[in-house]
Amino acid sequence: MSKLLREVIIGVEKAAKGIYRMTVASAHISSNAVPGQFVNIKCCDGTQALLRRPVSICSVDRAEGKFDLYFQVKGTGTEMLARKKSGEFLDIIGPLGNGFDLDIAHRRIAVVGGGIGIFPLLFLLNESKAVVKRSYLGFRSSEQILLLEEFRQRSTSLETATEDGSFGTKGFVTDLLERDILSEEFDMIYACGPYPMLRKVSEIAEKHGIRCQVSMEQRMGCGFGACLTCACKTYADDGTSHYVRVCSDGPVFNSKEVVFE
Ligand SMILES: Cc1cc2nc3c(=O)[nH]c(=O)nc-3n(C[C@H](O)[C@H](O)[C@H](O)COP(=O)(O)OP(=O)(O)OC[C@H]3O[C@@H](n4cnc5c(N)ncnc54)[C@H](O)[C@@H]3O)c2cc1C
Ligand code: FES
Repeated sequence: MSKLLREVIIGVEKAAKGIYRMTVASAHISSNAVPGQFVNIKCCDGTQALLRRPVSICSVDRAEGKFDLYFQVKGTGTEMLARKKSGEFLDIIGPLGNGFDLDIAHRRIAVVGGGIGIFPLLFLLNESKAVVKRSYLGFRSSEQILLLEEFRQRSTSLETATEDGSFGTKGFVTDLLERDILSEEFDMIYACGPYPMLRKVSEIAEKHGIRCQVSMEQRMGCGFGACLTCACKTYADDGTSHYVRVCSDGPVFNSKEVVFE
């Protein structure tokens, strides 16, 4: 159940170019969150960033009652977040959203992450009971790479791609998935990243008849289903399309449901 919380920041540190890690003490989030969920953060007390900013939960430490977020500085809200200091309070609502389907029947899984989309997938790998876990991570360039060791420790294998070829395979992470898809017999593919990447992963999954879940990123207002800012077009059971709310019906959807345009 989501709650409005005022929690203490344990630490904020730079993790890669323009990306920060924030550790927050929260018994409620660490004991209730599931992979794929997010928190909606009030970044400042003033009027500079009135709307809360959604950020995925990257990992939880249930024993110690804390969790980690990673965020990229994009605009006013995330800039103010990066300036927070340990010991300050953080005003959050969470955990929000639905989370990934981690059914134990999914024994062979692939996780496909692009850029800031990798963060909820680390939490997923931590909690998944799958026997084979193959991770495919894509970045623009080596400067944005982070958490590789953490992914390696939690995966059966890890492959990386960069668009400029500065690390791993040159090209898109979806090329790596496509290369392995026939030999791997995945039961489930989980993806989080930019829209074109999600569309491509969804096409690959559909072509090979593999179940796939995608975490959609959409501009948000309230974060809990009240304002309709985060509408996303999906297919209904009868094949017609309709709009759902990414914040409360998602952010995770079966890829077949999403109308990729
Ligand atoms: C479910 C979900 C999980 C996310 N998880 C992460 C994460 O783990 N790490 C991370 O770095 N980023 C994440 N994002 C993106 C992050 O919310 C935006 O980068 C952030 O809101 C930008 O705010 P800003 O004030 O810095 O930028 P501005 O561009 O100044 O923001 C202006 C407004 O647009 C909204 N907005 C801008 N970009 C986005 C976006 N991409 N998605 C949603 N709203 C946006 C802001 O919330 C704000 O209301 C996530 C987004 C969603 C929807
Ligand atoms: S952000 Fe308000 S309904 Fe989704």
